[in-house]
Amino acid sequence: MSKAPVRVVVTGGAGQIAYSLLPTLAGGSVFGADQPVVLVLLDIAPALEFMKGIMMELEDLACPLLAGIVGTADADEAFTDADYAIFLGAFPRKEGMERKDVMSKNVGIFNAQGSALAKAKSTVRAVVVGNPANTNAAILAKAAGIAPTQISALTRLDHNRATYMVAAKCGASCGDVEGVYIWGNHSSTQYPDVSHCKVKGAAPALDAEWKSATFEPTVQKRGAAVIAARKASSAASAAKAVCDHMRDWALGAPKPVSMGVWSDGNPYGVPEGLYYSFPVKLTGGGSYEIVGGLAIDDHSRKMMDASAAELVDELALANSLIK
Ligand code: NAD
Ligand code: LMR
Repeated sequence: MSKAPVRVVVTGGAGQIAYSLLPTLAGGSVFGADQPVVLVLLDIAPALEFMKGIMMELEDLACPLLAGIVGTADADEAFTDADYAIFLGAFPRKEGMERKDVMSKNVGIFNAQGSALAKAKSTVRAVVVGNPANTNAAILAKAAGIAPTQISALTRLDHNRATYMVAAKCGASCGDVEGVYIWGNHSSTQYPDVSHCKVKGAAPALDAEWKSATFEPTVQKRGAAVIAARKASSAASAAKAVCDHMRDWALGAPKPVSMGVWSDGNPYGVPEGLYYSFPVKLTGGGSYEIVGGLAIDDHSRKMMDASAAELVDELALANSLIK
């Protein structure tokens, strides 16, 4: 007997990341090759006419697993009975801005959508992509009143960027690289960490100068570099990262990956209540476990603490904007 479809809500369904994301969600490589999906596209009312074209294109994909397409500007309708929610709907930053500069526009969206997310299935899993993603995840979790572990923030794009850089440096394939982790905020304070990384099963020789002068700043500022070149923020790579994140969360991953998740203060002393990127083990079914026991040297500690401090300030600002 075929499986019942899962209902997947994509906010910002008429935006540029959604345009790259939706065909992969419909194709079966995220939620399973035998898992039908109903795609629910949520956007603001003025975008609905444009969205009609996207819905026509989704039909024209002729994907056997696409069991339905809904387009709406009504958040309550969109989220009711949702299994998964992907929060893209937010304003992207422009050249010269930091991601937190869009907070005053975006934080209200996540605060408002929380009550609608509460209408989803009790098992719902949600990823926040709209920037500033970590802080928006904290605002959404509070507004939805669901378990904070059901919500996550996307740092998989940073993880993929860092993995590519290590692979290129070592003349290896990205598939040969494991244990490159992103700690902290999806911002320029994030800490891309290669101290636990392996290439083809062995610790690579990565010189300190390359790590501090090339690797770390390139990963930290990659989003801005894409905006400077494209005059629009990353979309194809962001969509691929969302697919990696949701697939691994739903179905499990063979190796730990980076994910922005709720901190309860353990095991690395990150303040409780922040959505902070950690290495996580994913065994499927929407559960995760922060990888414990990693040795943290002085440089790592300093970088991890700086990103946590930025998140504390961001969350305070976000809460003040909501009030
Ligand atoms: P976009 O402007 O192309 O699309 C955003 C869409 O959201 C638009 O269609 C807009 O109408 C819609 N929207 C606005 N308010 C909404 C609301 N209240 N409800 C539903 N929809 C709403 O932007 P994009 O390039 O798709 O990027 C979306 C967000 O993702 C931005 O904030 C961007 O900075 C962020 N982003 C994050 C990452 C990451 O790694 N975390 C990567 C890339 C982009
Ligand atoms: C990215 O990292 O590409 C996104 O967060 C978009 C941005 O504003 O940099």
